[in-house]
Amino acid sequence: MPRIHAHLKLPGDKSISHRAALFAALRYGESRFQNFNFNQDCSATLNCLQELGISWQFENKTLRVFGKHPEQWKQPLTILNAQNSGTTARLLSGILVTLPFETRLSGDASLQKRPMGRILDPLQEMGAEIISADRFLPLQFKPVRSLRGMRYKLPVASAQVKSALLLAGLFAEGTTEVVESIPSRDHTERMLQLIKQDNTDGTVSIFSNSQDEIPDVSMTIPGDISSAAFFIAATLVMPDSDLILEHVSLNPTRDGILRVLQAMGGQIETRETIAFPEPAGTIRARTSKLVNHAIPNEWIANIIDEIPILAVLATQADGPFSIRNAKELRFKESDRISKMVQNFRTIGVEVQEFEDGFAFDGPVKLRGGAVQTAGDHRIAMAFAIADLFTDESIQLDDPDCVAVSFPEFWDILQRIVQ
Ligand code: S3P
Repeated sequence: MPRIHAHLKLPGDKSISHRAALFAALRYGESRFQNFNFNQDCSATLNCLQELGISWQFENKTLRVFGKHPEQWKQPLTILNAQNSGTTARLLSGILVTLPFETRLSGDASLQKRPMGRILDPLQEMGAEIISADRFLPLQFKPVRSLRGMRYKLPVASAQVKSALLLAGLFAEGTTEVVESIPSRDHTERMLQLIKQDNTDGTVSIFSNSQDEIPDVSMTIPGDISSAAFFIAATLVMPDSDLILEHVSLNPTRDGILRVLQAMGGQIETRETIAFPEPAGTIRARTSKLVNHAIPNEWIANIIDEIPILAVLATQADGPFSIRNAKELRFKESDRISKMVQNFRTIGVEVQEFEDGFAFDGPVKLRGGAVQTAGDHRIAMAFAIADLFTDESIQLDDPDCVAVSFPEFWDILQRIVQ
């Protein structure tokens, strides 16, 4: 039986890499990043910025971004292409609304199906002029004289929506306040050092306004915990396995997956080595006896990107597994509820589908079969790990789609599974 014995450093966190490039572009002068993730998504962000007149260079393992005030950005000759990246489309929209010239933004077929109304409504309320057909990409941004800051309570937990509004707020008259009832990843407010306030009703407000100076966000970007989750899951299940990951993001709005795995009996130790600007440190995982654990609703936002791999892992754990209150999964790179359910049925999991999640009983002896990824990188990587848990073979229709977030995935997997 194969096992994992490895000590690794992973490519930089995707959410932090996008923000590093975007925030550096807004700040006058040079910013430097080590371990920037040049996956397809973050490259889409860099390419859009380049079209907008921001130059960057990559040499000696360092990304150098040369930023300037948006007034000095240049009008692109083409439609900006966010490709498959929701983070590029939504965060960049928060900047495009402030530019003194017209721009257009689109993406690939999957991104054109993802909801943009969630950013269009509040940005238009701030005075932005955005034209769209049916509130989907492509979007056309018209220059406006000024935007007005506003208070906006997020109807769904979404760091992309929150970040788009806070970015627009940096160039608006007055203050923009975004109110969250359920915390979403907080990289934007941490990196931009925005003011945060705990409200008496348990919500949290984050503020931005044109007086905020954009700080230097130069850093060594910590490894991506969402990518780490695939190898951690494999390690917990495979016999006699031990994995050490160095300098991985341990941001408390992202590390919920580790808490779920620990609650399932996973032997996982963490040691924080850096606290600022982003918490990061070492994670060690070892083979464990796993029992499925109830997942409270308020943990869902924190583990949203890890649910595909968590569910694959749960097929190897004892007891009932259930994900509910996770309708947002239907609006990711694919409808992840429907894809997980369909593919689980192909490989022998008797799974029940709900509008907001799915459930099954573990453990399950997985079968081989042909899995459909719908071009969704996280579905592909989750079922690549499922393949390690069966003697039969699980084939993916599009193994290359992992490059959206993690082009190195197959090489690393092959190297660490002995
Ligand atoms: C992200 C936010 C999340 C997440 C996505 C990255 C970000 O999306 O699923 O992979 O970098 O802000 P939502 O904001 O739509 O929840």
